[in-house]
Amino acid sequence: MGSAYLLSGSLLKATFLVFCALWILPQMTLAKHVRFTRHYKFNIKMQNVTRLCKTKSIVTVNGQYPGPRIITREGDRLVIKVVNHVPYNVSIHWHGVRQLRSGWADGPAYITQCPIQTGQTYVYNFTVTGQRGTLWWHAHISWLRVTLHGPIVILPKRHDSYPFPHPFKEVPIVLGDWWKADTETVINQAMKTGSPPNISDAHTINGLPGPLYNCSAKDTFKLKVKPGKTYLLRLINAALNDEMFFSIANHTLTVVEADAVYVKPFKTNIVLITPGQTTNVLLTAKSKHPNGSFVIAARPYATGPAAFDNTTTTGLLEYKTKHSLSKSNTKLPLLRPVLPKFNDTVFAMKFNKKVRSLNSAKFPAKVPKTVDRRFFFTVGLGILPCSKNQNCPNNTRVAASINNVSFVMPSTALLQAHFFNKSKGVFTTDFPANPPVKFNYTGTAPNNIMAASGTKVVVLPYNASVELVLQDTSIIGAESHPLHLHGFNFFIVGQGNGNFNPKKDPKNFNLVDPMERNTAGVPAGGWVALRFLADNPGVWFMHCHLEVHTSWGLKMAWIVQDGKQRNHKLPPPPSDLPKC
Ligand code: C2O
Ligand code: CU
Repeated sequence: MGSAYLLSGSLLKATFLVFCALWILPQMTLAKHVRFTRHYKFNIKMQNVTRLCKTKSIVTVNGQYPGPRIITREGDRLVIKVVNHVPYNVSIHWHGVRQLRSGWADGPAYITQCPIQTGQTYVYNFTVTGQRGTLWWHAHISWLRVTLHGPIVILPKRHDSYPFPHPFKEVPIVLGDWWKADTETVINQAMKTGSPPNISDAHTINGLPGPLYNCSAKDTFKLKVKPGKTYLLRLINAALNDEMFFSIANHTLTVVEADAVYVKPFKTNIVLITPGQTTNVLLTAKSKHPNGSFVIAARPYATGPAAFDNTTTTGLLEYKTKHSLSKSNTKLPLLRPVLPKFNDTVFAMKFNKKVRSLNSAKFPAKVPKTVDRRFFFTVGLGILPCSKNQNCPNNTRVAASINNVSFVMPSTALLQAHFFNKSKGVFTTDFPANPPVKFNYTGTAPNNIMAASGTKVVVLPYNASVELVLQDTSIIGAESHPLHLHGFNFFIVGQGNGNFNPKKDPKNFNLVDPMERNTAGVPAGGWVALRFLADNPGVWFMHCHLEVHTSWGLKMAWIVQDGKQRNHKLPPPPSDLPKC
């Protein structure tokens, strides 16, 4: 299964051509200029899968786990027909795709669309503009993304090349987790009792836990390489609740791209990747067969107060030999990588600071130099009173919030309510720009840690330049939060430990080559400063990509108003937009 997941560069291209040829010809005769449209069909169906000696029925796309990869090119249009054959409501999000004026295709349930109900269909239709690299797609409702996810590979434009040596092969590496229990039951029960949900049983590499787990040796991902060749690994962290360290024994990796933005290449033995993030790294195989095999390993970076799955998933990097490509390497010595300790926040901060935009003439970092609107958001945990139908100790439940607002999901989609001017009773536009109470955010927590709740949004005028500082709090426990913004990339202009200092810290902001991403870790007990240009009209979700925190309310939405020109407005919804 592991090697079936590999495709050589040329095979990849061939598959692609055959696939596209079916569609390109009619497109070429119809369109004035050639615009490639790639069609996919996602049948959402149940599938029995066995891991750790236990078979369970999981929600999949076309029966595949991890899900099928989408391959496209910068500038092409994707038309993906999603048909729901499972007894759950479903929606699919194209994580990191900018969705310029195509917000109806973004996917988060109850934010941009009502979910696709059992037996129903929705066609996601959008163009990939100004992005190239790796992104991913995943279910965006409850915890279904645990098995409903897959890579989006965005190749450079035709006749364009990578700003780094062309790899011999490209390999998606999806980090995920495996749960023996049914994750929908896990999160539903946790929400009922108000206490933290259970944890996963294993982490996985391309769906395979590897030999460190019971009954799992046969489910090991293997990467077979040829001496001297360079490989592009497209890393995706699809795990529900765990940031991950990733490493390959005795091999240095060169980071070249993150969140579909090119990076100033840098070498590292360990990559830190949060849920939601993607990172492309080059792996150059040793020039001679090393007479050994090398462990590929990933395990969590965890800073929070709650229990986490502290197990390690492993795969194998094996060298092919001239004589026999399938020669067993089992007798060769096995080398293991060394990963940082679980809560190594010093490593995390150092690593994140190394990631810079390539900022070349061709790929400039277009950092907003001025700011129209400033926001300071605290992010962290807290408590909320329990409702009558809940069954919680002390009558309180764990909650998470932004500026002390724990977001309540509406029962109809925000984007429709906004577009048709029917916000009354759905959302209010009074999301606070600053924390309601000032306190020592990373010091001793205040006595009152009760959050408020509501469905509140921030309204931004079209093209506003936004600066957003995200400040972690130590309420219940300081913790790293990978914050993800839909519809935009932001620039990470600054980050630091402790409380953000609005007088001193902005002086050190990097406005030259900061990293541009869609998901950024708010450092545990620290802050991160972001800038983005609100050039995309619609309703855009922002939330922690640790699913447990999202469930607890660490989420909010931005409304970006239409601009004056016709091409600055959100078009009306497609006719098949699902109804609630
Ligand atoms: Cu990858 Cu709103 O999510
Ligand atoms: Cu979080």
